Amino acid sequence: MKALTETVLLLLLFSNACDSNICTSRGVTTCQQCLAVDPSCAWCSQEEFGRGGSSTSRCDLKQNLLGEGCREDAVEFPSSTLTVETDDPLSDKASGAGGTVTQVRPQKLSMTLRPGDAKRFTVSVKQVEDYPVDLYYLMDLSFSMKDDLVRLQTLGNELAATMGRTTSNLRMGFGAFVDKTVSPYMYTYPPEAVVNPCWGINQQCQAQFGFKHVLSLTEQVDRFTEEVKKQQVSRNRDAPEGGFDAIMQAVVCKDKIGWRPDASHLLVFTTDAKTHIALDGRIAGIVQPNDGKCYLDDDNNYNKSTVLDYPSLGLMTEKMSENNINLVFAVTSYVVQLYKEYSQLIPGTTVGTLSDDSGNVIQLIEQAYAKIRSKVQLELLGVPEELNLAFNATCLNGEVIPGIRSCSGLKIGDTVSFSVEAQLRGCPKEKSRTFTIKPLGFKDSLEVTVDFACGCACEATAEEDSPLCNNGNGTYECGVCQCHPGHLGPRCECSVEDYRPSDEGNCRPTPDSPICSGRGDCLCGQCSCHSNEFGQVWGKFCECDDFNCLRFKGALCSDHGKCNCGFCQCDAGWKDENCNCTTRTDTCMSSIGLLCSGRGTCECGVCQCTQPGAYGATCEKCPTCPDSCTIKKKCVECQHFKRGQYTDDNSCNRICRDEIQVTDELEFHDRNAVNCSYKDENDCIVHFQYYEDESGKSILFVVKEAECPEGPDILVVLLATAGAILLLGLIGLLIWKLLVTIHDRREFAKFEEERAKAKWDTGNNPLYKGATSTFTNVAYRGN
Ligand SMILES: *[C@@H]1O[C@H](CO)[C@@H](O)[C@H](O)[C@H]1NC(C)=O
Ligand SMILES: *[C@@H]1O[C@H](CO)[C@@H](O)[C@H](O)[C@H]1NC(C)=O
Ligand SMILES: *[C@@H]1O[C@H](CO)[C@@H](O)[C@H](O)[C@H]1NC(C)=O
Ligand SMILES: *[C@@H]1O[C@H](CO)[C@@H](O)[C@H](O)[C@H]1NC(C)=O
Ligand SMILES: *[C@@H]1O[C@H](CO)[C@@H](O)[C@H](O)[C@H]1NC(C)=O
Repeated sequence: MKALTETVLLLLLFSNACDSNICTSRGVTTCQQCLAVDPSCAWCSQEEFGRGGSSTSRCDLKQNLLGEGCREDAVEFPSSTLTVETDDPLSDKASGAGGTVTQVRPQKLSMTLRPGDAKRFTVSVKQVEDYPVDLYYLMDLSFSMKDDLVRLQTLGNELAATMGRTTSNLRMGFGAFVDKTVSPYMYTYPPEAVVNPCWGINQQCQAQFGFKHVLSLTEQVDRFTEEVKKQQVSRNRDAPEGGFDAIMQAVVCKDKIGWRPDASHLLVFTTDAKTHIALDGRIAGIVQPNDGKCYLDDDNNYNKSTVLDYPSLGLMTEKMSENNINLVFAVTSYVVQLYKEYSQLIPGTTVGTLSDDSGNVIQLIEQAYAKIRSKVQLELLGVPEELNLAFNATCLNGEVIPGIRSCSGLKIGDTVSFSVEAQLRGCPKEKSRTFTIKPLGFKDSLEVTVDFACGCACEATAEEDSPLCNNGNGTYECGVCQCHPGHLGPRCECSVEDYRPSDEGNCRPTPDSPICSGRGDCLCGQCSCHSNEFGQVWGKFCECDDFNCLRFKGALCSDHGKCNCGFCQCDAGWKDENCNCTTRTDTCMSSIGLLCSGRGTCECGVCQCTQPGAYGATCEKCPTCPDSCTIKKKCVECQHFKRGQYTDDNSCNRICRDEIQVTDELEFHDRNAVNCSYKDENDCIVHFQYYEDESGKSILFVVKEAECPEGPDILVVLLATAGAILLLGLIGLLIWKLLVTIHDRREFAKFEEERAKAKWDTGNNPLYKGATSTFTNVAYRGN
């Protein structure tokens, strides 16, 4: 009985820790829970800690634990660490590097992360000069490509020479495709048509095939020309071709094709037709999905062409990323729009418009390669769900762009870097995990191993049914007893049968509030909180939980934060009370480089246009804004006249997405149109109209003839100016004359007045002398 009273006293003190902090306030009971509360919390596993009446919690800040007398070696305080394991410097040049070329630094990292803690590191990526290139030319050999084939037979050497300017280490290969060799894709009747599908048009061509690998990647460029010369077109029945089957085989048959691990992999896909996509196989009764494996037989033919369906875009994306393939769609203008749309769904793909006979394919490949090499985009593979990764990119000029993980507009030889912050949000099941950060299309990558510091070292020495826990009524672990059901208390000394109503006072914050907030039982004077299917309930009076926080679209704290006793603690990069507001602003950046085009504010990554009439994702559309004429003027200059600022810095295609229509004169459209005019560099006045149609497409109607000043106009201006000068002079003279006249009049009047005065006062006139004078001779003496 005495022991029990002592315990209750102890419990009271235990829960009344005076200076509470985040570690002590959660009332955690195990070491693992303690570490999960906050990265600053430590646990004392010393057995005698907290005994003898001191008001201490085992979960506290480390310095508090040490201050309370916990031995240093009994403090569980794993800290997050970051170690760079492999950090080879970036290569300058690929040639002469003697084997390995490094384009990503560092290459290997390992870190230990505590829940809630974050670590930051930097990845640098360099587009090394003279990097080896593997170019595999995949050609549609359906009948309409006949002229293209003839042309390609002459282009092989030139293609090699052109690519040779960017790399001294080039390999080229060749493969061809038509479509699945079954009806309705193929001519199956009459039997002659199977052997020679051009039978129906009285010509000779080779039998239809699915995909045929012709030439493995080789340095001997002559072989390329040679093999292409041996090719013949075939013919199939329906318009779309089976090119995606061919792409899949070319991507996954690494050994046969001969992709080198240390090279850029260019897969050039040329066609003038649409393509069959996944599920189209059903037309021919082919229902087995593509499995993304290599099925080239001894003759290098795809032998599952008629067994497996066409691959899906998702599978292609996955396999291309796995094998670092850069796909280039070189397609004729008729289908270019379609392939552009496919390319948006397959990251790392470029599209170019092929001329009708493939004559421009060399420039196209050169441009595509330059484009591929001008962009660095990081992809993430195998990142555990509990790990939050945030990126800031430092592209060119050292400018930091928050929230993105790609850079474009680079030249070969440029180095870019990305600052990455990894934050652990919870505890995954496994103890550690390795994930990869890799620039798209590169073989180089950064491998990161994360150890989740969720457990405590002292758990290893846990003792089941320990004598320390009331003769085997619990497991002794990390200094505390985890009691078996039915027992409670620091040493499991209280059993549920010893229920004593007098203890209930400790289980309510105020005498008339419900016991343990109605969400727990009062056992041995302590709340034992009920946890339910939504999550944990905790706190001294079970007043806190992890599931009653604001939700957005059904997700607790919008899935971007932790719920802590009714409040969301947002992850890095998110804010607001329900964490649904991103702090990134790059989504608000308009093409002219102003946040929301300067017509609104960026709120939660979305532009709120404040300028009346402005709309669009970055408020870029606004025919009625006062500055829209000024902005669109530059687009008219570069898109229509091919001159001006945007042409000079090559940003026209990026910034101006308007359609240009040349008209004789402007017409009335609707109120969403605005008439603009400006004076160009030749002093001509260009008139144009900026119009947004209902679908939001922006059209610039430009009047064909600009109004230029003519000769007589200048004369008129000259005359007018001269006239104006004369007139001004005349007026000046007149005014002067007037002033002089007024002055004269005044003076005359004064004179007259004075003259009049003079008439009346002659007597006093000082000038007046009398008519007689008296003279006295001083020498005269009287006679
Ligand atoms: C297809 O090629 C694979 C690989 O070369 C081979 O194992 C398989 O037997 C071939 N299947 C047929 C039907 O020819
Ligand atoms: C990114 O930049 C923002 C502000 O410039 C900064 O708050 C954030 O910590 C940075 N994140 C990383 C991963 O460097
Ligand atoms: C558990 O505690 C009870 C008293 O509450 C005691 O009788 C018993 O011996 C203890 N040990 C085990 C293993 O149950
Ligand atoms: C965030 O949630 C609030 C409240 O539900 C809502 O009003 C707001 O529109 C949301 N913001 C975003 C960016 O979704
Ligand atoms: C633009 O000019 C045309 C032709 O002068 C006129 O018909 C039209 O109403 C004008 N539009 C606006 C919005 O002023």
